[in-house]
Amino acid sequence: MHHYRSLLSLFSGVLLTAAGTQAFAQESPTYSRDVAPILQQKCQTCHNPEGIGPMPLMNYQQVMPFAALIQDRTSKRIMPPWNLDPTIGIQSYKNDSSLSDEQIATITAWAEAGAPQGNPADLPPLIELVSGADWQLGDQLGPPDLIIRSAPYDVIANGQDQWWTPSVPFEGLGDERFLRAAEFKPSYPLGKKVVHHGHAVLIPEGERRQVALARYGVGKSWEIFPEGTGMRVPNDGRIAWNLHYFPVGTEKPGDVVEVGLWFYPEGQQPVLETRGETMFRVDGLKGMARGQDIVIPPHGYQVLQGTHRLESPAVIHSFRPHLHMRGKLMSMEAIYPDGTKEVLSQANNYNHNWQIAYIFEDDVKPILPTGTILQFTSVFDNTANNPINPDPEQWVVFGRRGVDEMSHAWIGITYINEEQYAQAVAQRRAEQETLRLD
Ligand code: HEC
Repeated sequence: MHHYRSLLSLFSGVLLTAAGTQAFAQESPTYSRDVAPILQQKCQTCHNPEGIGPMPLMNYQQVMPFAALIQDRTSKRIMPPWNLDPTIGIQSYKNDSSLSDEQIATITAWAEAGAPQGNPADLPPLIELVSGADWQLGDQLGPPDLIIRSAPYDVIANGQDQWWTPSVPFEGLGDERFLRAAEFKPSYPLGKKVVHHGHAVLIPEGERRQVALARYGVGKSWEIFPEGTGMRVPNDGRIAWNLHYFPVGTEKPGDVVEVGLWFYPEGQQPVLETRGETMFRVDGLKGMARGQDIVIPPHGYQVLQGTHRLESPAVIHSFRPHLHMRGKLMSMEAIYPDGTKEVLSQANNYNHNWQIAYIFEDDVKPILPTGTILQFTSVFDNTANNPINPDPEQWVVFGRRGVDEMSHAWIGITYINEEQYAQAVAQRRAEQETLRLD
């Protein structure tokens, strides 16, 4: 019986493949029908005339000359930028911009068939792109409740990394409020190309406490806390701006960066209070100078681990690895109090050009008990195989320039109490139960 069935399925498999190939030969994917919708969804936010992508990919004339390069970058999962390992850890993210295997196969088949245009009547209607001059969260949340601005900075045309760290007075909305979302918006179009990363941190009046309103890197411009979670923002203080500019050949006097802030309604206090993205070091030397452990030999590798015990339960909303040019991989694992271990997320295709925050979907975001050990592993590749290695002959140590190294993760984390933990776990179980019954 068994044999018979598998023979049959083998046979029908062969038939199916032959028929499939035939259909395929007659009708390879076309730009108008198959490829344009993918480019609209996954590429045009950056590859438009004013976007940060080096060339626009808005119509056939613009796309055709790049067909082979597009196939190369998409099949290697270099474009769109999304550096997570699709085979391990949580796979459901609010900001997932990656291509499906099927979309990659479509692009490949199209390029290999000679990048045919097909029938322009098949083109999807144009989509409306959110201009880089607008708030990306505007569609979802409306205009920000409050906009804060950096002091103007004169961008130079050429040179090395530049840091700009003005301190600017902050006036809130008249009372302490709870932050729901924040977006970091460099000027447009130039600022989007020269501001490499930045922080806007509120230092409340007369305190040393820091309230990190927004942290930005190319690839991460906004943050929305999960429903019912907010950050307490006092009404006054100073904003410590920390902006890292990297000149791109154009000069501009008086460049200003803006941060848009969206708050919970006046008087409303969300159930959970978060401190937002928190730095977790990925090295072995707790309490010693940051980065002491980084020593990567020429043409060699280094692996570093950092472990952090959770002293209370916690919910994790996002994972943003931070390494520089030799960075190759960072994983985040949970070792639970009972000793079981689980990979939560792993960037195995890390690329320093993109500082992506991987934002977990609410129904899968890790809810961790007290005593969980978060274990991070960084892998550095200082060999010539690393495509963005500027010089494999160098010893590489800690430093803030891109050619030096760093090893830490920014984790969107909210610490909760035992009661809230029990509630969150019960809710998750109930959701999963409903899923199973559906
Ligand atoms: C978040 C912005 C962004 C998105 C989304 C994006 N790109 Fe890019 N792309 C860039 C930037 C910036 C570069 C140049 C720097 C680099 O290669 O990292 C680039 C480079 C490329 C290159 C190489 C160009 C060259 O001359 O080397 C190709 C090809 C490409 N992108 C295709 C695509 C395709 C196809 C998609 C969608 C499936 C896409 N990109 C999505 C920003 C983006």
